[in-house]
Amino acid sequence: MTEPNHPNAPATTEGAPRLPGTDEPLAAGELVVLIDRKRRRYLLTLEAGGEWHSHAGLVPHDDMIGVVEGSAIRTNRNMEVVVLRPTREDFILKMKRGAQVVYTKDQAMIVAAADVRPGCTVVEAGAGSGALTLALLAAVGPTGRVISFERREDHARIAERNVTRFLGERPGNWDLRIEDVVDGLAALTAHRVVLDLLEPWLVVRAVAAALPPGGIVVAYTPTVPQVMRFDQTLWADGRFTDVRTTETLVRPWDLDGMAVRPAHRMVAHTAFLTVARRVPHRDEGGPPPPRRKENTGPGIVWHDQQEAGSEP
Ligand SMILES: C[S@@+](CC[C@H](N)C(=O)[O-])C[C@H]1O[C@@H](n2cnc3c(N)ncnc32)[C@H](O)[C@@H]1O
Repeated sequence: MTEPNHPNAPATTEGAPRLPGTDEPLAAGELVVLIDRKRRRYLLTLEAGGEWHSHAGLVPHDDMIGVVEGSAIRTNRNMEVVVLRPTREDFILKMKRGAQVVYTKDQAMIVAAADVRPGCTVVEAGAGSGALTLALLAAVGPTGRVISFERREDHARIAERNVTRFLGERPGNWDLRIEDVVDGLAALTAHRVVLDLLEPWLVVRAVAAALPPGGIVVAYTPTVPQVMRFDQTLWADGRFTDVRTTETLVRPWDLDGMAVRPAHRMVAHTAFLTVARRVPHRDEGGPPPPRRKENTGPGIVWHDQQEAGSEP
């Protein structure tokens, strides 16, 4: 039997999203991305009788409905745009945002560093605009589960809209909770916890309670003080080990004839990833704390620091 979304699969349900690369003409109701000659991208949903307008001119949606993915479409101002089904990256770059999103270079590293696999239960906080949620849902697959906490209702609504728009439906294995993650984690057990919020150190105790030994936590934090404080809090808790921090740089290249070189501009910084494994406390048979070098200073005492291990 042919797998759904296989290039030779029979037509899918009307309105259900098709994978880019599915050998079927574009249909009304599908999300598409238009790319112009300057590589600008435009996201839209095809509607019979609809029109797409831009500086490049006008294209009736009917000119795109029924064509093969990748077709060049001419506007009424005689410019050409290419029409494709959007990748997750295309979608994230153009979707509505409530909060700053995690882009694909960091999504890929989060999925790898946290070893998110099909069947995993992953808790994420906060859901923000739902960009990372889409990557986590793809990684856990239909047998896994993603539980997203978001304490701002307006952000949760945007995340819900984005996830539903890209996937064509609200997935049954996605649980979006409008709640503070510290409260929500108290009643949960998860294989992985992924944190993209301002003060991840406030969540460490709750994460330790929700992750069984061997579980993995990842925090995505833009600044060095956040990394330092999260690292310090993980070690102080005594139930984490193998704490590592990385930064991911992706340098685009221009290729034009013999002019092949790194692009002049790149995204130089997004955020750091700090990953750690949950282990039993030393008193319960866990590993020793890390050996610190003597000449690295005492570390920072944060002015509003709470007692290690106390409730935030
Ligand atoms: C940078 S955004 C997350 C973006 C998201 N990862 C994405 O890719 O679209 C951070 C979000 O965390 C939420 N947040 C902050 N602290 C939280 C907490 N303790 N519990 C739940 N959500 C929280 C904020 O409201 C905000 O929407």
